[in-house]
Amino acid sequence: MCGIVGYIGKRKDIYPVLIKGLKRLEYRGYDSAGVAIIKDGEIISEKKIGKIKELEKKVGKGIIGGEVGIAHTRWATHGGVTDENAHPHFDCNNKIAIVHNGIIENWQTLKKLLEEEGHKFKTNTDSEILAHLIEKYYKEVKDLAKATRLALKKVIGAYGLLVISLDEPDKLVVARKGSPVAIGIGKAEYIVASDATPILEYTKKVIYLDDEEVAVINHEGYKVVDLENSDKEKKVNNLDWDITMAEKMGYDTFMLKEIFEQPDSITNTFRGRIIPEEGKIKFGGLNISDEELKGVKRIIISACGTAYYACLIGEYIIENLTEIPTEVEYASEFRYKKPVINGDCLFIAVTQSGETTDTLFALREAKNLGAKTLGICNVVGSSIAREVDGGIYLHSGPEIGVASTKAFTSMIVAQYLFGIYLAELIGKVDTKQTKELIYELQQLPDSVRRILTLSDEIREIAAKYQDNRNFLYLGRGNNFPIALEGALKLKEISYIHAEGYPAAEMKHGPIALIDENMPVVFIATKDKVYEKIMSNMQEVKARKGKIIAVANEGDKEIAKIADDVIYIPKTIDLLNPILTVIPLQLLAYHIAQRKCCDVDKPRNLAKSVTVE
Ligand code: G6P
Repeated sequence: MCGIVGYIGKRKDIYPVLIKGLKRLEYRGYDSAGVAIIKDGEIISEKKIGKIKELEKKVGKGIIGGEVGIAHTRWATHGGVTDENAHPHFDCNNKIAIVHNGIIENWQTLKKLLEEEGHKFKTNTDSEILAHLIEKYYKEVKDLAKATRLALKKVIGAYGLLVISLDEPDKLVVARKGSPVAIGIGKAEYIVASDATPILEYTKKVIYLDDEEVAVINHEGYKVVDLENSDKEKKVNNLDWDITMAEKMGYDTFMLKEIFEQPDSITNTFRGRIIPEEGKIKFGGLNISDEELKGVKRIIISACGTAYYACLIGEYIIENLTEIPTEVEYASEFRYKKPVINGDCLFIAVTQSGETTDTLFALREAKNLGAKTLGICNVVGSSIAREVDGGIYLHSGPEIGVASTKAFTSMIVAQYLFGIYLAELIGKVDTKQTKELIYELQQLPDSVRRILTLSDEIREIAAKYQDNRNFLYLGRGNNFPIALEGALKLKEISYIHAEGYPAAEMKHGPIALIDENMPVVFIATKDKVYEKIMSNMQEVKARKGKIIAVANEGDKEIAKIADDVIYIPKTIDLLNPILTVIPLQLLAYHIAQRKCCDVDKPRNLAKSVTVE
C-alpha cells in the first residue's frame, strides 16, 4: 500500500532517485503517483493517476536540479482515484508539501476546525489535513520540525510522513506512527522510504523510526526526537539484502523469479539453524529461555492472507511434534474477539512484511494479555520484528510479487524448525527422530528443483483450463491448507473464482457445482488419506468434472481417473505441503500469464496491508 520516498543530499538531480525509488515500491500496490521537488525557491510538483510511467510522461523531460524532494504512490482510502487526490498535498500557499502513508482517523473534525480558521482544501483526502495543520503551527512557531510535531500531536491515526517547505528548503522532516519509515544513511545523502528496497542501491545503513518519532534531516546530518522533542538514540542497522535480490534477474516477472528461488530461499531459512549430526536445532534470536518454553501450555499462531495458510500448516506440524494444543487465528478476528490468554500461552505472529496492521495489533493484544510472543518474519527491522519478544527471520530475500510464494514455503520451514526445537526440549522426540526430521528437511531443496522443471508441462495444462470461470481445490490433512492457498493464488492473480475445501466436505455442498465446466484440483499424494481422496476423485469423475491431480511420482492409478497429473517427489507427511504447493503456484502463474494479467501487481491488491 502507499509508498513514500524522500531525498536530501549531494546529488545534482534528485528526480531520477525519487522516480526509481517509487518504481522499487510499485510492488506494494498503488493507483496514482506524485512528486514534489524544491528548486530555486519554488516547489515543482506533478501528480497523476495510473502507473508511474504516466507520471513520468506528464513530467516530460524530468525535473533538473533541486535541493530536496518527496514522492509518493497512493492506494486510495479516503477520496477517489483522481490526479487531485494523489500526493503530494499542499498548504494554502503551496509552501509546504507532504506525502503521507496511513489514515488520519479524526480528519473530518480537524478539517472542520481548519476550515473555520480559513484554510482552503483542494482535495477530499484525509492526508491534506496534515499540510494545513503544519501550516497553522508554522505560522506560530516558525520551525518546520516543531510545527510538524505540534500538528502530529493533534492527529489520531497512522502516518508515515515526509514534509518539505519553501521556508526551510534545506530540510526534510520525517515522522512515523504505525506506518513504516526507513532512513538510508549514505555518503552526504539520505534516502527515506517506506521500506528498504529504494535505499539498497545507495547505502546498506538504515535507521528505522519508531512510533511517534520525528527525524529532521539536513545536509549536515540527522536528529531524531519524539513528539515532545526529547532526543532519541537510534541504532544504525546494516541491511543484508543486496540490490540484485530486488531485481528480476532475467525472469519475466518477480513472481516467477520468486517461485524459482525456492530451493535457495528454503535453504536460507534452515541454513545455520540445523546441526544434522547431533539432530539439533539452534536459533539466534528466540529470546525466550528454554525454561519458559517448557512452561508453554498453549500456542496461538496468527497472521493474514497467505501467511495465515502457512500458519494452518504450522499448527499441524507443531501440534504433531509437540502435542501442545495449537490454534490458528486470523489476526483481524483475534484482536476483536476478547481472547483468552495467560502467561502459559505462546503467541506467534507470522508475516512476510512484518508490517501488516492486523497482525501487528493482534500481537500487541496478545502481549498486553501476558502472552510470550515470537515473530516469524521476513523483513529485518520491521515493526513486528521489533515488537516481539524474540523471533525467527525467514531470510528468504525480498519478496516483490504481491502474491506471496517463497515467503510461504519459508514460513512452513521456520515453523517446522521451531516445532522440532520445542518437541526435543520437552522430550516428545528423541535424537534419532530429530536426525530423521532434519535429514528430510535437507532433501527438500532438491525435490523443489525437480518440481520446477515441470514448469513448461504445467504451462500446457494451464492452456487447457485458462478459460474456465470457476475452480475447486481439494485436499485433506495438511494439504487442506494447500488447497486454500492454491485457490487463493489463482484468484489473486488471474481473477478466476476458486475455492479450497477439505476434500471430504465436497459432499456437503460444492458437489452441487460439479459439471464438465468445473476443473477440480486434487492434492492426492500418497499419505494416510490417499484412498479417501481417490474416492472423492471418483465422485467428481462421475459428474463429468475435470480433474487436475498433484500426485507422487510412480502413481499409475491416478492417471486412470485424472485428466491431468502433475507428478512430484515424495517426502514425509509433515513436509509434504512444501512440495505440493509448488505446482499450484506454477499453475496459477501460467493461467494468469496466458490471460495477460499483471501477475506482479494484481488489481486492487497490496503487498503490505497497512490499514485495517
Ligand atoms: C497481503 C498480501 C499477501 C500476504 C498478506 C499478509 O494480502 O497480498 O500476499 O500474504 O498481505 O502479509 P504479510 O506481510 O503479513 O505476510
